Formats: sequence, structure tokens, C-alpha cells
Amino acid sequence: MKEFTLGRVIPLVEVSAADSAERGFHAPDVMTAELPLRDTHRRPLRDLRISVTDRCNFRCVYCMPKEVFGKDYVFLPRRELLSFEEIERVARVFVGLGVQKIRLTGGEPLLRRDLEYLVELLATLRTPRGEAVELTLTTNGSLLSRKAQSLRDAGLKRITVSLDSIDEAVFQRMNGVGFPAALVLEGIDAALRVGLAPVKVNMVVKRGVNEMQILPMARHFRGTGVEVRFIEFMDVGSSNGWNMESVLPSSEVVRAIDSEFPLVPSGREKPSDTSIRFHYADGQGKIGVISSVSQPFCGGCTRLRLSADGQLFTCLFASRGTDIRTPMRNGHTDEALRQLVVDLWMRRADRYSEQRGESSVTHDQSKVEMSFIGG
Ligand code: GTP
Ligand code: 5AD
Ligand code: SF4
Ligand code: SF4
Repeated sequence: MKEFTLGRVIPLVEVSAADSAERGFHAPDVMTAELPLRDTHRRPLRDLRISVTDRCNFRCVYCMPKEVFGKDYVFLPRRELLSFEEIERVARVFVGLGVQKIRLTGGEPLLRRDLEYLVELLATLRTPRGEAVELTLTTNGSLLSRKAQSLRDAGLKRITVSLDSIDEAVFQRMNGVGFPAALVLEGIDAALRVGLAPVKVNMVVKRGVNEMQILPMARHFRGTGVEVRFIEFMDVGSSNGWNMESVLPSSEVVRAIDSEFPLVPSGREKPSDTSIRFHYADGQGKIGVISSVSQPFCGGCTRLRLSADGQLFTCLFASRGTDIRTPMRNGHTDEALRQLVVDLWMRRADRYSEQRGESSVTHDQSKVEMSFIGG
């Protein structure tokens, strides 16, 4: 594949030699840096996940437990949010630097008013090779039956819906607000009807809470074209009370489904994929497992996250971001923003999930919340 050479980029921040050496980092020659940008583990920058709001109308037990995210919880005020034009500008800088896939997340992204307008703006982005950017969105599905058509019309290509159970009692307990699974299923049907394909469903599996829903979910979606992905409960953020006992390893998920519907493993479709796929042996579709705890996938991680208030995070488990909103609002040029991203990515060394088990590595306890950074 042809690699692109960056044009002249003006360093935004001087990195002193001493500072660089201390971090084991040697400032790249940004004048000649090649695309794709590669971090210190040679991982290319390919995916941008954009959180458009830190709010959500659900209080999932593993993400925004209502005991923590109660009435007094302070969310970002409106003025702190990037405008759609600002988001589009940042996204354009990223696409110019090799990003090929953009995912809109939240909180719950469909709560952001006029989101379709942002979708329209992003749908026009082209890579330096002239290809359309893969534009997708992860939602809890609560507003999807109303919005599927307008999102499709605005240029959204595909969608992922979170659904942890098809049993009403289990689902309503897990989402913390008693929201009916039936309405999320209506949203999934609407997405299929308008052609937001492929539709994927994310089920976070929490041991002792919804593991009995693994088979009902597999049965329900087999043969419908919807791919269910079973996700290990992760220690993201600092408020979901995570412990290892609540994690059901994906190997158990696969064993349970395979005993009723024989599965054929097909691995990761791309090295950067979060999920490992299995096809039903009888041709009735596929499932995926996302095993960030039992089988971390940092080695192929090409993802960077933009929070709703304009901070860049190079890992889902980071405790600090890099502000791109202030330079943008202070009139920095696109080139200066590019420089900021180049510096950030070329210094990146994160591999949190792989280090989770290493006792020699200690982590900052104040990890940012997933509802803030985007899933
Ligand atoms: P596809 O493009 O459809 O494969 O989506 P995706 O798996 O990249 O994104 P999605 O939003 O569906 O994420 C699925 C699950 O994987 C969520 O629980 C995410 O939090 C988790 N996940 C996504 N990216 C990362 C990551 O970089 N690290 C870890 N540890 N988990 C991730
Ligand atoms: N562990 C695993 N997945 C999580 N998600 C949110 N919190 C967690 C967690 N602690 C998932 C949601 C959604 C995706 C964006 O992230 O279910 O599907
Ligand atoms: Fe909301 Fe999604 Fe978090 Fe559930 S997992 S609380 S739907 S952001
Ligand atoms: Fe990427 Fe961090 Fe997730 Fe590892 S833990 S896959 S580095 S976001």
C-alpha cells in the first residue's frame, strides 16, 4: 500500500531533549513523518471514536450505576461541548492523518440534539486516497425506532446497539431505569428495515447478573443477520464496582453456545478488531466475543478517542486527556492541530489491558469514566 508523506508541520509544543529522554521518547521528525502514523509499538492510527455527550438516559450497572450517577451528578455544561463544526474540523484533521473509521458514541449519542446534522458533515469526509470514511454509531437503542431513517438519510452506514438481555426483568434491572427490551428490539428492527447494515448487538456479560441470557440472545438473533457480540465486563472507570469474580470469560460464552449450536472459529477479521468471530456451522450467521480481560487486544489497537469536551484519549483506560478544544478556540491553524495529534500518537505507549495482570505495573486509580470518554 502506498504511504503518504505529511506536508510541512509546525511543532506546536517544544519537547525538550531532557523531557523526551525521561519518557523514553525521541521527538519524531514531523516534517517527514509518514502515514499511517505509528505509535511507539508501531500501531497505526486508524480509528477515531467521538463522544458527543456524556449524558445517558440509562443507568447500566456496569457503566453508570445510579448510586454514583444520581440526581446530583454534574454533567458537562453545554458551553463545554464541542460544536458540530468543531467536531467536524477535528475529524477532518484525523482523516487527513490516516483515520479510516469514525464511530459516534456517548453517553448516549442519540440524546444530542440534531445529531443527524453531524452525521451529514462527517459522511462527506474522504481519506487522502479519496475513499469514504466508514461512519458508524453505538447506541443504547432507546430512540432508534424514531431516528433510524433520518440517520440513514444523513449518511450513517451501519449501527451497533447495546442490549444485555431479551428478558424484560433482567434487562430492566440492568439498565437501571426500567427501560423495556421490547422498545430496543423495535429500534433494531427499524435499523434493519432502513438498511443500517450490518447491525451489531453488544451484550456485556456480568457473571451472576445476565449470564443466563447468553443462549436466549443467541437463539433470538440467529438467522436474522444481526451479529451479537458478547463482551467481558471491564474494569473501565472507577465507579462500576468491578471485580474479577464478575467477569465471565469469553471461553465460557463460546462453550455454552457451541453446545447448542456448533460454532466454527474464524478469528479476527482485521488485526485491529475488538472481536473474535465464530460462525454457526449451519450457516445461520455469526457471533463475536470481545475479551478485553481474558485475551487483551492492545497489540492491534488503532483507536483514539475524542471526548465531548474536546480532549483526546489514547486509551480507554487513561486517566488524562490532551486538550484540543483550547488550541482550536484560540485560533490555531489546522496544521497546528495536526502537529498536536502527530506528537500525541507518536508518543503513545498505552496497552492497559495487557498490563492489567502485571503486578509490577501500577495504574493511576482515577481512570476516566466510559460514559465520558465513549465506549
Ligand atoms: P466494530 O467496528 O463494529 O467492530 O465495533 P467496535 O467493537 O470497535 O466498537 P463497539 O463500540 O461496538 O465496542 C464494543 C466493545 O468493545 C465495547 O464494550 C467497547 O468498550 C469495547 N472496546 C472498544 N474499543 C476498545 C478498546 O480500544 N479497548 C478495550 N479494552 N475495549 C474496547
Ligand atoms: N465493560 C464492558 N463493556 C462496557 N460497556 C460499557 N461499560 C462497559 C464495561 N464496564 C459497553 C456498552 C456498549 C459499549 C459502547 O460499551 O455496553 O455496548
Ligand atoms: Fe448509557 Fe451505554 Fe453506559 Fe448503558 S452502557 S449507561 S446505555 S452509555
Ligand atoms: Fe487500546 Fe487501551 Fe483498549 Fe488496549 S486497553 S485495546 S491500548 S484502548
